[in-house]
Amino acid sequence: MNLNQNIFILTGAGISRESGIKTFREKDGLWDEHKIEDVCTIDAFIKNPSYVHKFYNERRKKLKNPKIKPNPAHFNLAKLEKIWEGDFLLVTQNIDDLHEKAGSKNILHMHGTLDKYYCMKCFKFGELKFDLSSSHKCKYCDSIGSTRVDVVWFGEQPKYLPQIYSFLEKTDLFISIGTSNNVYPAAGFIDYILQFNQNVNLIEFNIEKTNKSNLFTDSFIGPASKTVERFVEKITIK
Ligand code: APR
Repeated sequence: MNLNQNIFILTGAGISRESGIKTFREKDGLWDEHKIEDVCTIDAFIKNPSYVHKFYNERRKKLKNPKIKPNPAHFNLAKLEKIWEGDFLLVTQNIDDLHEKAGSKNILHMHGTLDKYYCMKCFKFGELKFDLSSSHKCKYCDSIGSTRVDVVWFGEQPKYLPQIYSFLEKTDLFISIGTSNNVYPAAGFIDYILQFNQNVNLIEFNIEKTNKSNLFTDSFIGPASKTVERFVEKITIK
């Protein structure tokens, strides 16, 4: 493998599964316990803000549990970034902070994060270190009930798309880890790259085949903590 290539890594909920964070679409996943339309849309927030706040407050509090730590897949991506010589971009759909905790630097959270909020009235952002509620007053504009977690909901535009697409246009090696490839635009990144580079190397890591597996050059089936570790070790030894 040529370390001078431009590498784009996409991660999804599966990379954090072995750290104790539930995925969305697997059996017993978050979308088994909650309906997307009750928690993850602006309509849900307008209809029942307390329910939506509670859902995200719980997710944020869970991340503060000292037992929730990065696993070898997160650490190995941080290691890969350090030795990589070409351009490196890690894009995650995850709203947790495990990549940062493992030491990743060049990372974009395209679906936002649990540790920020913003006000829908004045569009100012703040660090989220407390439970949000419908009675919360925005510290910038004094509006009550207008603050929400900085997470991208269904029907909203993911973040950083210009940077992401411009990197995809020069990507030589695309790695997808722990995503079911059900949610666009991330699920369409491969199709986008292929318009610019038919020789791109596409590698997938998952515990099972996904609906995009047929497009990948290589698929590594197994828990990401093991498969990503082996992959990075192989590169580092060479
Ligand atoms: N190692 C590798 N892959 C795993 C592991 C593991 N240990 N455990 C689970 N997986 C895989 C599953 O097989 C599945 O394909 O992770 C994937 C998780 O898929 P989803 O639950 O659909 O999560 P994701 O693809 O990240 O969802 C995308 O959907 O609901 C929205 O905004 C939410 O960011 C999320 C987006």
